[in-house]
Amino acid sequence: MPTPILAPSLLAGDHANLAGSAAEAEAAGASWLHLDIMDGHFVPNLTFGPGTAAALRKHTKLFLDTHLMLDNPGDYVEPFAHAGCDLISIHIEPACDHAAVLQRIRSLGRQNGLVLNPATPAEAVSPFLDKVDLVLLMTVQPGFGGQSFRREVLPKIEQIARWRRERGLDFRIEVDGGVDAQTAPLCRAAGADTFVAGTAFFRAPDRTVFRRSIEG
Ligand code: DX5
Ligand code: ZN
Repeated sequence: MPTPILAPSLLAGDHANLAGSAAEAEAAGASWLHLDIMDGHFVPNLTFGPGTAAALRKHTKLFLDTHLMLDNPGDYVEPFAHAGCDLISIHIEPACDHAAVLQRIRSLGRQNGLVLNPATPAEAVSPFLDKVDLVLLMTVQPGFGGQSFRREVLPKIEQIARWRRERGLDFRIEVDGGVDAQTAPLCRAAGADTFVAGTAFFRAPDRTVFRRSIEG
């Protein structure tokens, strides 16, 4: 199983000082930073675009784990790759040629990921598992930070981890939404190795201790 990684989500950082929030993640010892990109259509909220990611790239060495919540992700992989994002993940739910977009992300020299909403069955991503670097399982309905973790997703994490083992694959399994010091161990026991935390990270009294509680 890959080494556990915490990916603090900038959604819960200071949007008037994103570079400062990235620096706080780095100071806590994080190696990844999760960027939530929302279009106001696929999810009912808006965040930031490739220009912001490119500006941020100049201020941080963190691995930029970029979660596209967009109706037309295929139109945006180039701009985010050129912005310097290290991994770009797309949702399985919007209609698009997922295999082609995943391949395009790799051909741009970036890692790719495929994301499932809580209600989307594991079977939806099964045919793509040998073509991805990461599978991201949403443990809340995407769109907003600060929601409660949905335990019903745990068996789906187990299923994806089972397929990874049975098929001899090595993609990362990431969880996102309501992940904190209490829920991360449940996800880890189910097979997750990569943990997005927005609220729990930025509100932690000691972020280094919080990171160690997830990665340790
Ligand atoms: C929600 C985003 C998450 C969000 C998680 O749509 O995908 O990355 O930042 O926030 P918390 O950790 O507060 O649930
Ligand atoms: Zn996210």
